[in-house]
Amino acid sequence: MRVLVLGSGGREHALARALHRDPSVTALHCAPGNPGTADIADNHQIDPTDPVAVTELAGRLRAELVVVGPEAVLVAGVGDALRRAGFPCFGPDRAAARIEASKAFAKEVMAKAAVPTADARICDTTDEAEKALDAFGPPYVVKDDGLAAGKGVVVTEDRAAAAEHAAACGRVVIEEFLDGPEVSLFALSDGENAVPLLPAQDFKRAYDGDEGPNTGGMGAYTPLPWAPPELVDEVMSTVVQPAVDELRRRETPYVGVLYAGLSLTSKGVRVVEFNARFGDPETQVVLDRLATPLAKLLQACAIGALDPDFRPEWHPGAAVTVVIAAEGYPSTPVKGDEITGLDEAAKVDGAYILHAGTKLDADGRLVANGGRVLNVVGTGPDLATARTTAYEAVSEITLRASHHRTDIADLG
Ligand code: AMP
Ligand code: GLY
Repeated sequence: MRVLVLGSGGREHALARALHRDPSVTALHCAPGNPGTADIADNHQIDPTDPVAVTELAGRLRAELVVVGPEAVLVAGVGDALRRAGFPCFGPDRAAARIEASKAFAKEVMAKAAVPTADARICDTTDEAEKALDAFGPPYVVKDDGLAAGKGVVVTEDRAAAAEHAAACGRVVIEEFLDGPEVSLFALSDGENAVPLLPAQDFKRAYDGDEGPNTGGMGAYTPLPWAPPELVDEVMSTVVQPAVDELRRRETPYVGVLYAGLSLTSKGVRVVEFNARFGDPETQVVLDRLATPLAKLLQACAIGALDPDFRPEWHPGAAVTVVIAAEGYPSTPVKGDEITGLDEAAKVDGAYILHAGTKLDADGRLVANGGRVLNVVGTGPDLATARTTAYEAVSEITLRASHHRTDIADLG
């Protein structure tokens, strides 16, 4: 199978790595990819959000599967263009991707499908926002309605800060605070049926102890030893399948991965958000454990042939990923500093490195080129070992003024 992966981050490197080990994959391409994917795939320097350029590339490569990484690509209508041109595409059309692109739309779908989520009000004016803040009380949860790479959400006890964020965003969703631990569950769908992957946990705040601003995610691990065994079945029947059914009913079938961001609250499971793509960095750990060949599975979704009773197989043991972020991430990441120590890090038994925001500069040096620069993955028979392995590899890497959390997968 000839496969094209769209995107350039750590998630796409993880997707490429999992596709590379599927024996049915005969040619692997990334657009644009990164220096990490270049080791296992052919990188093509096109803009992945340009539907014409992507369709032209898919044609030239005679792609039998196109896998979309980032939401911006979906929102640009690349899935629509590929499907129109006859290419099997794993990733929803623009209309179905609104489940992520508009928080108000997601709330509407959830209400219609009776999916449990936080009570919310959609506010278009400062006055409406002020009233909603007082109706829900602290802690305040204020979300920009549009796409903001995980950074449009403010959760705070400080009413003035909440009101200020609402005023700065325009249309916002203000909602009830959900008090439980968070779980990310990815389900693969062909528009009609859905199959779950392993649940994972992400660490969204920038600093140790869940302090600091929200980020795209600073680390992740799987499996979750503390999660109730019935969680996945419950989420599939109360969240994922009803959402997939509702989108199909609206004639915008959902083909791709539906990412349910969940809170396990004292009142039961609630959806915090939906995303229309694989989570980053959770994908890095989930795909690490996947034993089932990935390409066939994603292609089955793309061509509408997913067996609803199929359950992927998983390697025993655990995976932990730690994100090395550039100075200034998440607000103003500094680009261009050299990265060293990757060879030493990769020598740590059970560890490997995924590139997230890197590039080769004019002199061929590997430098930081984004906020989240590297994902260091540690694996092992249990979480504690995987965690130790990941941090041992992290300690070998040098990037001036970079930062990472030291408490990823610390269940202590
Ligand atoms: P979102 O972009 O909706 O996932 O929000 C980003 C992060 O903000 C989530 O992963 C949570 O950590 C936090 N968050 C969002 N909504 C809520 C909520 N209703 N209650 C508590 N925390 C929330
Ligand atoms: N890790 C959170 C996200 O991908 O949105």
